[in-house]
Formats: sequence, C-alpha cells, structure tokens
Amino acid sequence: MEFNNQISMLKMVLLMLIMMLGSQSEAQLNSDYYKESCPTLFYVVRRVVRRAVAREPRMGASLLRLFFHDCFVNGCDGSILLDDTPSFVGEKTAGPSNNSVRGFEVIDKIKSTVESLCPGIVSCADLLAIAARDSVLLLGGPGWSVKLGRRDSTTANFAAANSGVIPSPISTLSNLINRFKAQGLSTRDMVALSGAHTIGKAKCATFRNRIYNESNINPSFAMSRREKCPAANGSGDNKVADLDIRSPNMFDHSYYKQLLGNKGLLTSDQVLFNNGPTDSLVVTYSHSIRAFYRDFVGAMVKMGDISPLTGSNGQIRNNCRRPN
Ligand code: HEM
Ligand SMILES: *[C@@H]1O[C@H](CO)[C@@H](O)[C@H](O)[C@H]1NC(C)=O
Ligand SMILES: *[C@@H]1O[C@H](CO)[C@@H](O)[C@H](O)[C@H]1NC(C)=O
Ligand SMILES: *[C@@H]1O[C@H](CO)[C@@H](O)[C@H](O)[C@H]1NC(C)=O
Repeated sequence: MEFNNQISMLKMVLLMLIMMLGSQSEAQLNSDYYKESCPTLFYVVRRVVRRAVAREPRMGASLLRLFFHDCFVNGCDGSILLDDTPSFVGEKTAGPSNNSVRGFEVIDKIKSTVESLCPGIVSCADLLAIAARDSVLLLGGPGWSVKLGRRDSTTANFAAANSGVIPSPISTLSNLINRFKAQGLSTRDMVALSGAHTIGKAKCATFRNRIYNESNINPSFAMSRREKCPAANGSGDNKVADLDIRSPNMFDHSYYKQLLGNKGLLTSDQVLFNNGPTDSLVVTYSHSIRAFYRDFVGAMVKMGDISPLTGSNGQIRNNCRRPN
C-alpha cells in the first residue's frame, strides 16, 4: 500500500516536471524578463513617453495604436516599425496604416536611450508594449504589469498588413468579432479594446460616410463633425477629428457614453451599441470605469501575447527601423 503510494507520488512529480519543461519551450513572456539585464528599462521608457505626451497628448494615442497594428499582423514582433528595404516592403504603408500610424520618432528615441544603457538587450517589440502601457497610464488610465521577452522580426509583411487582419472602420459587428476571434481575442476583449478610441484622432476619410450617410447618428454630433470633414470624396480626407468628443486626451470611459448617445465617430465604433450582442457590455462600461479598466487591461495583456518570437527566433534589433 505504502509502496504503491510512493510510486504514484513519483509519477506525479515526473508528470509535473514534464509539464514545466513543456511550457518552458513554448512562448513564455514574463514581466521580470529584463530585471537583471536592464534594470533601468521601465524608468527610461516612462521618461521618454512622458516627455512626448507632455509635448503632444495625442502621441499617447498614437503609441497605443502602434502596438495594436504590430500585434495584429503576424504577432507582436516589432514588424510595424520596419522601413522598406531592397528585399521587402514595410507594413507602414499598408492601407490601414499609410499616412496614419505615427510615433516612430518616439520609439526611435526610446530605443537609442535604452541601447545606450543596455546595448543589444531589449527588443523593439517589447518597447512597443511598454510604451503602450505607459501612454495609457500617463493619460489617466490604468496601469498593468507588461509581459516581456518578445524578440524582433527580421522582415515585415506588407501583404498581410493589407489582407484585412486589421479591421476596417466600416466593419460590421460580425466582422469585428471575427477579426478579433482570429487573433484569439473574445468579443468581450474586442469591446474593451475598442475603448482605446477614448483617446486620439481619426481622419475625415475614415468617418465621412458615417457622418453624411448613416441614420444611427446624433444629428447635432453629425453636424459638428461635418465642419471638419467635407462631403466630397477626396476633399479634406486628412482633416482630423477627436474620436472621443468629450475628453480626447483622457483615458476614461466616455467612449462608451458616446456610443449610448449615437455619437460614435467611426461606423466600427457605433456598431457596438444598439446592435444586439455587445449592447450590454457597452452599457456596463459606460456605467463602470472599473469594469472597463479591468477588461481593457486583461485584453491588452492578451493582445500582447499574440504569436511572439521567442527563444532563438528573430533577433534583438539594434535599430527598430531595420533588421540587423
Ligand atoms: C475594433 C477595431 C478597430 C478599428 C476598425 C479601428 C480603426 C481606427 C481608425 C480608422 C482610426 C483612425 C486612423 C486615422 O484616421 O488616422 C483609429 C485610431 C486609433 N485607434 Fe483604432 N481601430 C480599432 C481598434 C483599436 C484597438 C484595439 C486599439 C488599441 C488597443 C486602437 C487604438 C486606436 C487609437 C489610440 C487611435 C488614435 C490614434 C492617433 O490619434 O494617432 N484601435 N482606429
Ligand atoms: C501611401 O500614401 C502616399 C501618400 O498619400 C501615397 O503616395 C502612396 O502611394 C501610399 N502607399 C501605398 C502603398 O498605398
Ligand atoms: C452616401 O451614399 C450615397 C449612396 O450610396 C453615395 O452616392 C454618396 O457618395 C455617399 N456620400 C458620402 C459622403 O459618402
Ligand atoms: C464616395 O465614396 C463612397 C465610399 O467609397 C462611395 O460609396 C461613393 O459612391 C463615392 N461618391 C462619389 C461621388 O464618388
């Protein structure tokens, strides 16, 4: 009897060992990844982001969006940061990002400062993750522990960036749900992550049809946005308007309150409300900033886990704009 117990005990210990080894060979990001190798990392990134956001609050929004566009195209591997090279076209000029994603100079500044302290240690993909977290925090939003240990891609994928993996602003609700599902993110994650539009700006070309042609829009809101966006296709395409009309530089929950009032700027914003499956979540987040923050943080961590390069895959770029 005693002997049998010892055998099963042994089996269990062996099983646990195998499980531990197995999960180690899988991608395991963790927040202490640079604790020994670059102890001042968080301090340095925070300082550069703080300066950039103080100079221009919108930069916080732009840095957050960079991380999203990085993660949704072949995982969080810093590929969005690569310029064109003779052997590949970068992702920056793909439809959803061309003339629209910004903040590259701030990432360059973060990278060069980090390189001077801990050369060759910290990936650009991880810098994006930390900069996104710091941006949210500096604009009054929640903080969280960022998981680290991603490595950088050696190439970019222009075709993938154009393939629709990044949802369009005229998406239907089922488009949005499916796009996020394809990345392993739930409908709840999608609704919470859309709350990122509580900061930042969008170009006229992305919301023209909504403000002139849609009926589920507050009329005086539509009128006010039309001032910033002429009706004719191609005229004033690059004029920008705040995604959150109430508090464009505050990471709060007013995005969801806007949706209740039919004041979502993008079609893909307003489809989240009065449209069935996501209505109750929008109402919940509009009432409870805590519920929004909790789910947003959880979803950001999940988004940051999308297909990272680890182990001997990829590299630590010296310059975020080009492979070594
Ligand atoms: C749900 C699907 C989404 C769609 C269809 C979408 C679409 C857009 C569009 C069209 C813009 C305006 C770009 C421009 O005109 O230059 C924008 C801006 C922005 N998006 Fe999204 N987005 C989505 C999800 C997300 C997510 C998940 C995040 C981050 C977690 C995010 C963060 C932002 C931010 C912060 C801005 C403002 C950027 C700035 O001012 O520079 N978006 N988005
Ligand atoms: C990106 O935008 C620029 C300027 O509007 C344009 O000239 C270029 O053709 C665009 N690139 C792509 C790949 O569409
Ligand atoms: C509104 O929709 C009509 C019919 O589809 C179209 O002709 C018109 O160009 C659209 N206007 C805008 C501003 O998108
Ligand atoms: C303007 O663009 C919209 C959306 O692409 C299209 O439906 C509409 O027909 C265009 N209108 C004109 C006048 O070209």
